[in-house]
Amino acid sequence: MADIETLKQENRIFNPPAEFVGNATISGMEAYQAMCAKAEQDYEGFWATLANENIQWKKPFTKTLNESNAPFYKWFEDGQLNVSYNCLDRNLQNGNAGKTAVIFESDDGKSTRVTYQELHDKVCQFANGLKSLGIKRGDRVVIYMPMSVEGIAAMQACARIGATHSVVFGGFSAKSLQERIIDAGAVAVITADEQVRGGKQLPLKAIVDEAIAMGGCEHLKNVVIYQRTGANINFVEGRDRWMKDVVANQASTCEPEWVDAEHPLFILYTSGSTGKPKGVQHASGGYLLWAMLTMKWTFDIKPEDVFWCTADIGWVTGHTYIAYGPLAVGATQIVFEGVPTYPNAGRFWDMIARHKATIFYTAPTAIRSLIKAADADAAVHPKQYDLSSLRLLGSVGEPINPEAWMWYYRNIGNEKCPVVDTFWQTETGGHMITPLPGATPMVPGSCTLPLPGIMTAVVDETGNDLPNGQGGILVVKRPWPSMIRTIWNDPERFKKSYFPEELGGKIYLAGDGAVRNETTGYFTITGRIDDVLNVSGHRMGTMEIESALVANPLVAEAAVVGKPDETTGESICAFVVLKRSRPTGDEAKQIAKELRDWVGKEIGPIAKPKEIRFGDNLPKTRSGKIMRRLLRVLAKGEQITQDVSTLENPAILDQLKQAQ
Ligand code: WT7
Repeated sequence: MADIETLKQENRIFNPPAEFVGNATISGMEAYQAMCAKAEQDYEGFWATLANENIQWKKPFTKTLNESNAPFYKWFEDGQLNVSYNCLDRNLQNGNAGKTAVIFESDDGKSTRVTYQELHDKVCQFANGLKSLGIKRGDRVVIYMPMSVEGIAAMQACARIGATHSVVFGGFSAKSLQERIIDAGAVAVITADEQVRGGKQLPLKAIVDEAIAMGGCEHLKNVVIYQRTGANINFVEGRDRWMKDVVANQASTCEPEWVDAEHPLFILYTSGSTGKPKGVQHASGGYLLWAMLTMKWTFDIKPEDVFWCTADIGWVTGHTYIAYGPLAVGATQIVFEGVPTYPNAGRFWDMIARHKATIFYTAPTAIRSLIKAADADAAVHPKQYDLSSLRLLGSVGEPINPEAWMWYYRNIGNEKCPVVDTFWQTETGGHMITPLPGATPMVPGSCTLPLPGIMTAVVDETGNDLPNGQGGILVVKRPWPSMIRTIWNDPERFKKSYFPEELGGKIYLAGDGAVRNETTGYFTITGRIDDVLNVSGHRMGTMEIESALVANPLVAEAAVVGKPDETTGESICAFVVLKRSRPTGDEAKQIAKELRDWVGKEIGPIAKPKEIRFGDNLPKTRSGKIMRRLLRVLAKGEQITQDVSTLENPAILDQLKQAQ
């Protein structure tokens, strides 16, 4: 984790290389400032021009922004479009039909190429196939797929027929999948027999079966299965179909369903501060616009680039910067299946060299683990690989500590590639605060300045602006096109979580703390201000894990906190009180393992606590509130120097000090 004190003193500044600046889409700080000024002067005009220039509208919009029902903002509401048409057909018209859209490399290192024409045809056949199953505009479809061209095609096919997809990351458990199928009211699940990660075959279809068997999924009529490994699966006649049968004999053209700009393109579940994940709903027009603009502005995408975002389509990064953004701007992109450490920790560098990637976008947690691996084994050190094709590097998902930034800049970018540290969220749809590679002087560990048109600020609890240098909460003062539209099925929670009354009800609360540098005004994100953890760039709600733990018959009470971790940013530490007496020694180890596996089954392996400590009780105030701030100190292994006068049972602290 970025140490805030060190960051405040971080004074290294790296200017973008002159050559990069010369060819950049946004070239130089004056150009950036001029765009910001334009947005300030005529906010709606700024966005309207961009939306007209970038999107191919079926019916042009006449209204740019509707604020009458704030915070349920509407963008380009009377315009009509189809997102898949903009990503595929447009490229066929632009002369990109024969251009490679996707270079796909599977876990075993085999690669295949798909052109825009081929991808278009595949998506159309699949869209027709989905229609033949009775899936139509407005329906929700859950996608539980491995990284694959088919996964991207499934998302695009949904967009083409106006169905709203909800991709569930393949690492989530049957229970998590079931909850999402129910909440979305999905009529179909698109999945695969299995997924392959690091040489291991892992089930997907079997988990779908398990999820459905848990009940409540009566609205689900179809399960479509892509054959990834050919493993035996349980096939339910009447409900299950092979993808190859669904697309067989389907036409390779499909008239897109023209939808309103506000039509829900997708729902993506993410963790919040209560036990129940939030179904973040995005719209079509505004989302597409921002996916395109950030590809152009932040990634400076050019026709000859080979773009590689290493995210999974199960996360928002894989939506915006794999499934939609690169296609909408006609880029060639690499898509990979697997993990960064298989067949060895040189996989990323080897792939960059073989496919001549020019833009590389990954997470700090991956960088940190690959630094370790390179230190331990010279054979997988990036210097063994030809990385000279690279011209731009990006980081996403969590704060990047200056040391990791420097390593990335030096060893991967050879000090000639700008590094864009992109701050954004599932809710924001695309980048918010990031350097522009051909303009912004970079400071390691700072995401620097907001993109043009993005009105971020640091305020206090009542919404008053804070001066630079003073830490506060990060907000966005004006709505922007790719913002979350609502929480699916829960508009009240949407209002409460993101537009709280204390801040006036109209400014967006990001949920992160931030501070701006006194001289440069640069933003540094200081971490979440709610009960959300960031483990390896994945968002986890502490309440979600606590609910999973207390659902175990052995557990009476549980409190979960984050603990700084060198590799994963944060790690999960759980304090647990059992219904029986407090276990010690081997028994404690055994029960801790049982509980970890339980959480893995309840939520998914990413939610397994790294550490579990048992106590007779938890530190509580006299009114019974668990004092998590004390638990955070204990988890770090530090001495408690804070005020404990409100603590009901101070003796418990000694017991919880010791890891098992
Ligand atoms: C949270 C959002 C961004 C898409 C993938 C994660 C943290 C994200 C940065 C960054 C510091 C960052 C924030 C944010 N975060 N990017 N560059 N610097 N923190 O999306 O799962 O919705 O998580 O990730 O805490 O709120 P997400």
